[in-house]
Amino acid sequence: MNEFERYTVTAALPYANGPVHIGHLAGVYIPADIYVRYLRLKGKDVIYVCGSDEHGVPITIKARQENVSPQAIVDRYHTMIKQSFEAFGISFDIYSRTTSPIHYQTASEFFLTLYRKNEFIEKESEQYYDEEAQQFLADRYIMGTCPHCGNERAYGDQCEKCGTSLNATDLINPRSVLSGKPPVLRKTSHWYLPLDKHESWLKQWILEEHKEWKTNVYGQCKSWLDLGLQPRAVSRDLDWGIPVPLENAKGKVLYVWFDAPIGYISATKELTPNWEKYWKDPKTRIIHFIGKDNIVFHCIVFPAMLKAHGEFILPDNVPANEFLNLEGDKISTSRNWAVWLHEYLNDFPGKEDVLRYVLTANAPETKDNDFTWKDFQTRNNSELVAILGNFVNRAMVLTHKYFDGIVPHPAQVGSYENEIKEQLKTLRFSIEDNIENFRFREALKEYMNIARLGNKYLADTEPWAIIKTNPEYVKTILYYSLQIAANLAIMGEPFLPFSSKKLANMLHLPQSNWNLAGDINILPVGHQLGKSELLFEKIEDAAIEKQLEKLHQSNQSNIPASSIVEPQKPHVSYDDFSKMDIRVGTIIEAEKVAKTKKLLKLTIDTGIDKRTVVSGIAEYFEPENIIGRQVCILVNLEPREIKGIVSHGMILMAEDRDGRLEFVVPSAPVTSGSQVK
Ligand code: 2FM
Ligand code: ZN
Repeated sequence: MNEFERYTVTAALPYANGPVHIGHLAGVYIPADIYVRYLRLKGKDVIYVCGSDEHGVPITIKARQENVSPQAIVDRYHTMIKQSFEAFGISFDIYSRTTSPIHYQTASEFFLTLYRKNEFIEKESEQYYDEEAQQFLADRYIMGTCPHCGNERAYGDQCEKCGTSLNATDLINPRSVLSGKPPVLRKTSHWYLPLDKHESWLKQWILEEHKEWKTNVYGQCKSWLDLGLQPRAVSRDLDWGIPVPLENAKGKVLYVWFDAPIGYISATKELTPNWEKYWKDPKTRIIHFIGKDNIVFHCIVFPAMLKAHGEFILPDNVPANEFLNLEGDKISTSRNWAVWLHEYLNDFPGKEDVLRYVLTANAPETKDNDFTWKDFQTRNNSELVAILGNFVNRAMVLTHKYFDGIVPHPAQVGSYENEIKEQLKTLRFSIEDNIENFRFREALKEYMNIARLGNKYLADTEPWAIIKTNPEYVKTILYYSLQIAANLAIMGEPFLPFSSKKLANMLHLPQSNWNLAGDINILPVGHQLGKSELLFEKIEDAAIEKQLEKLHQSNQSNIPASSIVEPQKPHVSYDDFSKMDIRVGTIIEAEKVAKTKKLLKLTIDTGIDKRTVVSGIAEYFEPENIIGRQVCILVNLEPREIKGIVSHGMILMAEDRDGRLEFVVPSAPVTSGSQVK
């Protein structure tokens, strides 16, 4: 760790198309925050850089759905995301955004440098185009069936079910997200980064020189490199994004994955005029914290861009996490299966550290992991309250009770105390080693072992039982206990910043500095402690049940009503069915029935005759728009008088749960009078 003079730590820029949830925190922002806070406590020169990723198709799709501009979408979510991060103590030095002018300038210049160095190839290819929307269908504007797993809702750039990265032309039965229609192929020209040209140094750099990368990261890189790299387009035909800064590039923007990682550099520029040393000096260690779906972009594509540019250093490590599930199921925005940070902050005010704790203790570091509300409660009640809070509280309360809150003199140091002294040092080094190697779960476990050590010490020595008979030893016990508490305040800062600060205030600890960690003389004899307060409180069953209820309810209410189906009706015999005479007919006249909202009077050519049918479809169809349409009609339904008009049959309609009606029709025109069987 010592060979570097400074650290540039980045956390993946979240897309500003929705709020952030626990998966984001656990996967990227908390681990990076622990790492950065630790380095700061060690007095290192470190910057922690992030911002909102504000381009890309999902943002324009959301804007279309809401009938607002993409800028309005990103403004809304950028603010919301930034606030959530702040509230959880994610200590970015800068949280910027990729719609900022400095980013437009930086990304455009970056592109131009590569362009002028002939690092791109310009290539014409055929891409999907929506003739109705008059638009090329980049990335998520196209959906279809995944050729690998059969998922019918795979996107043009990726199948979210099996995780495969796709080209739009790989999709089976492609359809436009804009019109729902099958697209056509049209020629278009784009700039490509020839990754194949970079393959050999990437292989050497990753597979030989970075064997220390996490297994999941190394493994994914290896399989990409083994398969062989292909040129990747860095531009798109879209109207939302950074315009390609060339004369002949009207309607072309930079691909979001080209501009987004440059966002780390622009954010650093925004942070400090001395930005260059954080990106260009080989004595700087760049570390990208990301989720597993971003590995290829950070380990292969962005390094190739940096190398092609020529002035930048490469990342030294890319500690990617796996995914966090929720109550046994994948976190999903569309199904509202998530714990949203802004909602947690409302529901559990003042408990930001509890979530930080649980998400670290259960972080998906080596495999996907599950967050459950029950585990959240148990970890709070049985670990934070019962181990950490309980120890600190006992040490504080007893010192106030017996010694007026003044750190007593340790007169009788024996082998137990020497053992504690040794163990504290060992724990400090173990925490350091784990943090420095991105094993934050293990680091947190070791941190809690400090509190366990304190609890055991109190339980074994029982100062409350010997205060009358051996007050001198009680002084020693409380001296050592308070030093343990001070260690908890210092070493807890990266994990539990709010509670550690509270504890430091309670102890009147003048400064938090990692150099003091593991020390047994942090609080001097005679030092006056502050007031004792509880660090954590129990979380009751009711609060957990409420969350579970909310999760299941909102999940239900977010399933489109149209996908909830009516239960099947009781069986009917074939004879009963065959009694129904259903024919295909054609609407030849249609008019509204006076003084009603719902009824249309239709004249239908049934092939048998031309007859009047009254149908309750006026809210869905304008009479003039349905003339000439084929319909299915139950012709032998007993005639009924409706609003003074005799109706001779019933038109068959499909009705979804939203109450929306559509005609049931043959898939191609047939002659009027054809039977439906
Ligand atoms: O996957 C994502 O959420 C992307 N917005 C991450 C971008 S990271 C970077 F390159 F900016
Ligand atoms: Zn798939």
